[in-house]
Amino acid sequence: MRMVDIIENKRDGRELTTEEIQFFVNGYTDGSIPDYQVSALLMGIYFQGMTEKERADLTMAMVESGDQIDLTKIEGIKVDKHSTGGVGDTTTLVLGPLVAALGVPVAKMSGRGLGHTGGTIDKLEAVEGFHVEIENDEFINLVNKNKIAVIGQSGNLTPADKKLYALRDVTSTVDSIPLIASSIMSKKIAAGADAIVLDVKTGAGAFMKTIDDSIALAKAMVNIGNNVGRNTMAVISDMSQPLGYAIGNALEIKEAIDTLKGEGPEDLTELCLTLGSHMVYLAKEASTLKEAREKLEAVIQNGKALEAFKVFLSSQGGDASVVDDPSRLPQAKYTFELEAKTDGYVSEMVADEIGTAAMLLGAGRATKESVIDLAVGLVLRKKIGDQVKKGDSIVTIYSNFENVEEVKEMLYENILISSEKVAAPTLVHCEITE
Ligand code: URA
Ligand code: CA
Repeated sequence: MRMVDIIENKRDGRELTTEEIQFFVNGYTDGSIPDYQVSALLMGIYFQGMTEKERADLTMAMVESGDQIDLTKIEGIKVDKHSTGGVGDTTTLVLGPLVAALGVPVAKMSGRGLGHTGGTIDKLEAVEGFHVEIENDEFINLVNKNKIAVIGQSGNLTPADKKLYALRDVTSTVDSIPLIASSIMSKKIAAGADAIVLDVKTGAGAFMKTIDDSIALAKAMVNIGNNVGRNTMAVISDMSQPLGYAIGNALEIKEAIDTLKGEGPEDLTELCLTLGSHMVYLAKEASTLKEAREKLEAVIQNGKALEAFKVFLSSQGGDASVVDDPSRLPQAKYTFELEAKTDGYVSEMVADEIGTAAMLLGAGRATKESVIDLAVGLVLRKKIGDQVKKGDSIVTIYSNFENVEEVKEMLYENILISSEKVAAPTLVHCEITE
């Protein structure tokens, strides 16, 4: 087999065979096929697209390029949830203990990464003593015992995706739905998921800015999942404004605690109940979505979800007393209020720019070397559609710097107040199943 023929087949719009896809993925991973040929192929894919079969083949070739996590020793159906980006997205912190309280096994492998705030692991490390450096056996035992554990990304997972993603980044081929969908799905499948619930964000703070693009990406991922034997569905949810109120690491832990108590922001609670219902249903812990939702509401009401969070934290060395006393979480030295300059209604809260403001405070990493400040971030006091009076606080800024003028300026530029009444954005646009 020759790489030049594979490039030509794709260039001319012919479907690549399973063998051709495996050939280029393996050859690129082991270094026998050079960047320039793979670049040409990626550009071919960008223009010609990929059939359903090609997408499934590409995904599985990337899965098989490295280690696969074996979760077979965990009892039950392992349902993983994946959100495509977002700002202040606290759903993972809430959903883990929430569905675990119903017996759904949550075996989460998580990373740190770049972004407006840290990743799930960084957020959890705001709880003193909590650590994810655990052995595989202990991870499996913890999930069997408590139904939830988190382990740091380890081993050699989907090396083909890492190399291809880096190459796409410099050849202007990131923005291709088949390539994005197979990239995301390969990581979920290699991490051992039996079933997958996708939360595809749409709007300013999302990877996909329009509903149509978000739906196309969701369909592509749902197809791949189901074609390779993983029950997969997607929810398209709003990310035009940040989700919930808190954007920051310790601040989001506090928000997750509130939500698990039934006292969280309305949008975050609703999205967690929606995604959680699908997780519980796919795990076969409920026979209808309605029953799943009622069960989730019950474990919030009776305190079992909160208890699951405490057990989870303490089992991995964390100080679970933060749950009853969140003042034990890292605290910022200063707080400032961003006051409304006029009366009216909040009409826009541009999610990605507000996320960047949180990053400027130190809540997230701009580069791999950045050090995160777990205490700092933003708490929104208003959301789109809310009425404000001049002088009301719209955002509380938690900072370890005394001067936050640049952050305030950024927030004022990206939070608009209109004199006319504005409707709150739709939270869940639609659901995509096979
Ligand atoms: N996120 C991924 O993991 N892969 C992509 O290709 C795009 C976003
Ligand atoms: Ca939040």
